[in-house]
Amino acid sequence: MCGIVGYVGDKQARDVVIEGLRLLEYRGYDSAGIALVDNGSIVSDKRAGKLANLEKSIEETPLPPSTTGIGHTRWATHGAPNDTNAHPHLGQQGRVAVVHNGIIENFAQLRDELEREGHDLRSETDTEIAAHLLENELERTGDLTTAMQAVCRRLEGAFTLVAVDAQDPSLVVAARRNSPLVVGLGEGENFLGSDVAAFIEHTREALELGQDQVVTITRDDVRVTDFDGHEAAGRRYHVDWDLSAAEKDGFDWFMRKEIFEQPRAVADALLGRHDGRGELQLDEVRITEDELRDVDRIVIIGCGTANYAGLVAKYAIEHWTRIPCEVELAHEFRYRDPILTRNTLVIAISQSGETADTLMAIRYARRQRAKVLAICNTNGSTIPRESDAVIYTHAGPEIGVASTKGFLTQLMACYLLGLYLAQVRGTKYGDEISAVISELEQMPAHVQRMLDQAETIYALARQNAQTRSVLFLGRHAGFPVALEGALKLKELAYIHAEGFAAGELKHGPIALIEEGLPVFCVVPPRGRDQLHDKMISAIQEIRARGAHTIVLAEEGDTSVAEYADETITLPVVPTLLQPIVATVPLQLFACELATVMGHDVDQPRNLAKSVTVE
Ligand code: F6R
Repeated sequence: MCGIVGYVGDKQARDVVIEGLRLLEYRGYDSAGIALVDNGSIVSDKRAGKLANLEKSIEETPLPPSTTGIGHTRWATHGAPNDTNAHPHLGQQGRVAVVHNGIIENFAQLRDELEREGHDLRSETDTEIAAHLLENELERTGDLTTAMQAVCRRLEGAFTLVAVDAQDPSLVVAARRNSPLVVGLGEGENFLGSDVAAFIEHTREALELGQDQVVTITRDDVRVTDFDGHEAAGRRYHVDWDLSAAEKDGFDWFMRKEIFEQPRAVADALLGRHDGRGELQLDEVRITEDELRDVDRIVIIGCGTANYAGLVAKYAIEHWTRIPCEVELAHEFRYRDPILTRNTLVIAISQSGETADTLMAIRYARRQRAKVLAICNTNGSTIPRESDAVIYTHAGPEIGVASTKGFLTQLMACYLLGLYLAQVRGTKYGDEISAVISELEQMPAHVQRMLDQAETIYALARQNAQTRSVLFLGRHAGFPVALEGALKLKELAYIHAEGFAAGELKHGPIALIEEGLPVFCVVPPRGRDQLHDKMISAIQEIRARGAHTIVLAEEGDTSVAEYADETITLPVVPTLLQPIVATVPLQLFACELATVMGHDVDQPRNLAKSVTVE
């Protein structure tokens, strides 16, 4: 949600900032803007719409040379996505420029105060308030860092703020509360970014900032304090991916590239997690084995796709550990006064590690003394830092807004965690755990086999280019797959898509079936006889009412042939692991259908990659 870049060094700040914004544009694309410090004044340009609009404007009216600058790509919260509301925002005298991510909750009160003092606020944003307050403080104290600390003490809500002072080109000052910010550590130059993609082209050394911290970067120095001005420290780390991972590699979309990266991502998620004899070692789990043995209930939280990963995890974890397991949307969780004890294990799933709804739920759970284990893809992000333990999914950067490899690797991490709990608690024999691990090791090859069917799936998508509605049916672990398939289609193709548990059909949704309606049906492996046969009955029922059935069934399952208008073949895998393979064709279908419909697959309308506001 909003991409932020800051730079001071000896390069042209314009180029560094625009390039950083390009790599951050997946975070928001309602507008883009830049501000440079130039001989005692701020020069700024900002345009509604995608970064290309800003670039065009800069081409027509070039910006002056400058080695200090900030930039922003916006996902609108306060105020419409137009030029006026685009960031950066300037103070009353134009001495400071500020970019912001988050929501300042006491904005109305601060705005009244500024207006009473005679400030002329031009935009509808909360950010402009921060710019005016900052400039006031700067005039009073003469120091941008001190001014930032003072302003932050007055702000409520979530914010990353990055600011420059027209009269001091030697520095850029930033602050964070409940919103992401990392520092890129260079040689004779330093960077700020909402995430490391902002500066990965220049450095892979990063500094993770803590909550409620202010950072001042100059060419040669990085200084961190808290909001009261006390010295503080960040955590230095090395980013384990480079620019090539943040580029499209010849694919038309990041999403398609990320779908095709899944065999590698799934393999990496497993790497180094077991000792070859089936014994699992999840060393990022800083919860003792005794504490894990005492767990009497698991609550899995997450949003969107991460929530669906949790739904799959429930089937596996309950089956392997016999611990009762609930799955809840993170944004609903803390508002219903959930019962948590020190023996509750909360598993928080988040690709970005920055989702505000999930973060707030984690804080709530920890206040109730529950232990929180995060499953996360982003090193240096807030959610792992605020959890008791973390399992990183190692998917590499996910830039397409729709999650793909993020989901599959979350599933892998959930399986590993379930097996680890079973190992620690002794609910599965070692050889049973080894057998599942061997199956997990086959997953990269199985996912590759699904990708090998891409052309068939694309053809199917093209045939359905005119469709206005698609349904997805599944049972057991296939039910979350149906939900995920529908979500991908909604967010990318903007068409009506719904996922149902097949057993629910006759309780209402079957009324939606009409002649020619495409319905994806995820058939459980034959090993689960009852489930399998019930699914086949459901397919018969909808077909009899005119549905066009697209059936995903395992290789050799001849029972489906009679009722399938189209068949997608899945490799033979255990029931609980089937979501790993069954999701892939649904991702390919959504990606291709959206492409054929002429949509921007990587930047679907109204969405942003990480949702850092509640
Ligand atoms: C869907 C999608 C979203 C995210 C959700 C949670 O394709 O990407 O539904 O899964 O916003 O995001 P994270 O996992 O970053 O917490």
